[in-house]
Amino acid sequence: MMIVCANSKGGVGKSTLATHLAVWLFDQGFQTALLDTDKQRSSSQWIVEAEPKITIRVADTPEECLKSVQGLVSSHDFVIGDAPGGLEDLSRTLFILADLAIFPISPSILDVRSVAGATTVLRYAQGINGGRPDGRLVLNKMKTRDTISQELKVGAPQLGLQVAQHVVRDLQAYRDAAQQGTVVGRFGRKGSHAAADLDGLFRELVGDAVTNKQNVRRQNVENG
Ligand SMILES: Nc1ncnc2c1ncn2[C@@H]1O[C@H](COP(=O)(O)OP(=O)(O)O)[C@@H](O)[C@H]1O
Ligand SMILES: [Mg+2]
Repeated sequence: MMIVCANSKGGVGKSTLATHLAVWLFDQGFQTALLDTDKQRSSSQWIVEAEPKITIRVADTPEECLKSVQGLVSSHDFVIGDAPGGLEDLSRTLFILADLAIFPISPSILDVRSVAGATTVLRYAQGINGGRPDGRLVLNKMKTRDTISQELKVGAPQLGLQVAQHVVRDLQAYRDAAQQGTVVGRFGRKGSHAAADLDGLFRELVGDAVTNKQNVRRQNVENG
C-alpha cells in the first residue's frame, strides 16, 4: 500500500505525519519504506535516526519517484511518500501512485485556503486512476481553547475533502522528539499524549489495511 502526505503548504505537518506513520507501521512488524521527495530531506534524515531499519529512498523528479515507488511496493507492505510543499509534478506523481493521500492542515486561514488546490489535484489523480487515491484531511496542531481550531473543526467538513475524525493536538512533544531523533511513540511519558492522538488517527486511516495484511500473514504461516 502506498500512502502520501501532501499539501501545497509547508509547515503543516507532512514530514511529521509521514515519519510517525512509517515508524508506527514498522513497530507493528510491517516491511516499511519512506520515500522523501522534499529537497529539505526532513523525514529521511529523521527516519535514519529514529529507525534505521526502515528503507529510505529519496527522489527529486517524477521519473525518479515512479522508479522508486515501483521498486518499493513489491518488496514492502507499506510505502510512505513525503511530498514537498507544493502541488506540482512531484506531488501529482505521488498522488497518481498512491492508494491514500493524507492532507494535514493546521488552524490558519492560509491552510484552509490550500485545501481547494489539494482537492483539485486529488480529483485529477482520481480521474486518471478510476477513483484512487482515497483522500483524507487531517486537522493538525489543534489547540483546545483556540477559536481558529474550533472554527476549523466545524468548517472542515465543508472544504470538499473527507475529514479524519481523529485530530492531532499541538504538542511540544513532536518538536522535542524530532530534536532527539525519535518519535513520540518511543518518547516515554513525555510523548504519551501525542502518541495516543496518532494511534487513534492511524487506526482510523489505515486500520483496515493493517488488519488485512495481518490476516494474510497469519494464513501464510498456517499454510506453511
Ligand atoms: N501536532 C504538532 N504539534 C506541535 N508541533 C508540530 C505538530 N506537527 C508538526 N509540528 C511542528 O511543525 C513544524 C513543521 O512540521 P513539518 O512536519 O516539518 O511540516 P511540513 O513537512 O508540512 O513542512 C515542525 O517544527 C514540527 O515539529
Ligand atoms: Mg516536510
